[in-house]
Amino acid sequence: TPTGPEERFQARVDAEEKIEPRDWMPDGYRRTLIRQISQHAHSEIVGMLPEGNWITRAPTLRRKVALLAKVQDEGGHGLYLYSAAETLGASRGDLVGDLLSGKAKYSSIFNYPTLTWADIGAIGWLVDGAAIMNQVPLCRCSYGPYARAMVRICREESFHQRQGYEIMLALSRGTDAQKRMAQDALNRWWWPSLMMFGPSDAQSAHSAQSMRWKIKRFSNDELRQRFVDATVPQAEFLGLTVPDPDLAFDEATGHYRFGAIDWSEFERVLKGDGPCNRERLEARRKAWDDGAWVREAALAHARKKEARAQA
Ligand code: ACO
Repeated sequence: TPTGPEERFQARVDAEEKIEPRDWMPDGYRRTLIRQISQHAHSEIVGMLPEGNWITRAPTLRRKVALLAKVQDEGGHGLYLYSAAETLGASRGDLVGDLLSGKAKYSSIFNYPTLTWADIGAIGWLVDGAAIMNQVPLCRCSYGPYARAMVRICREESFHQRQGYEIMLALSRGTDAQKRMAQDALNRWWWPSLMMFGPSDAQSAHSAQSMRWKIKRFSNDELRQRFVDATVPQAEFLGLTVPDPDLAFDEATGHYRFGAIDWSEFERVLKGDGPCNRERLEARRKAWDDGAWVREAALAHARKKEARAQA
């Protein structure tokens, strides 16, 4: 029978009990969750920018409505996730401060530019497709508030993925120029999408402990392989070519083998030196500064209400 608090905690995790905010938890578990959940929240918020870039240029009213809804969903996911991080004792002000100062990480993928309308299709199909592959298992994460947040987020992500694939389908059945545009977007988004899953298992600093705590249910490489296996047939259906000369189906394992990922590019992007890192942070800082009056007004209102209640 487990004796110390750590052993009792691990026994609860092993028994698939959910850990709730007021429960005892190891400091490392709390820190890991604050790190992962806040990085995830920042990714949703920064993730609004590449697509927001195309709202005014969506080709039809229907496409514009869907894109607006999707970008709005991402804002909601970010706020929802900041709340989940707050249940662990993190302060939202500190988390946002770390994003704006460049200290906090957010997903590498959002540092790439959206050059054509086909990029909106490729992001929905590949980036949201990768996000779903990674996030469906998080619905079974041991920490209750994160797991429950993920259920709703994954439902919305699956709508995002389908709207993206439908854009790709329309383009790849369109004119030659549209097909070329779709292929070019796949060429540019394929490898960065594979990098979204994080470093290889051998290089992943946190995986082993996060798997023991059942924060992560599958390793980075396992999820990356699942993504490749699910996505290659979708590319074939579109009549597009995955930009990987080493890609081949392995009959023996039932999986696709794929070429080597350029991890030096991944490291550059993580260090802040990707194609759009500076632009993204500038946009967030400007949004924060432009919103100062809203925060001040809300605080003034709260103070007045409190004073009235006490009078
Ligand atoms: N972009 C930026 N940083 C990354 C990425 C990435 N694609 N992948 C890994 N990293 C960072 C980790 O955050 C970690 O940095 P840190 O120690 O400074 O915090 C470091 O690289 C080492 O990686 P791992 O040990 O593998 O880290 P971890 O166990 O946290 O696994 C993963 C990374 C898979 C991204 C995990 O954090 C996760 O599942 N997060 C939740 C999902 C998420 O954040 N998705 C965001 C993109 S999807 C979207 O927002 C639509």
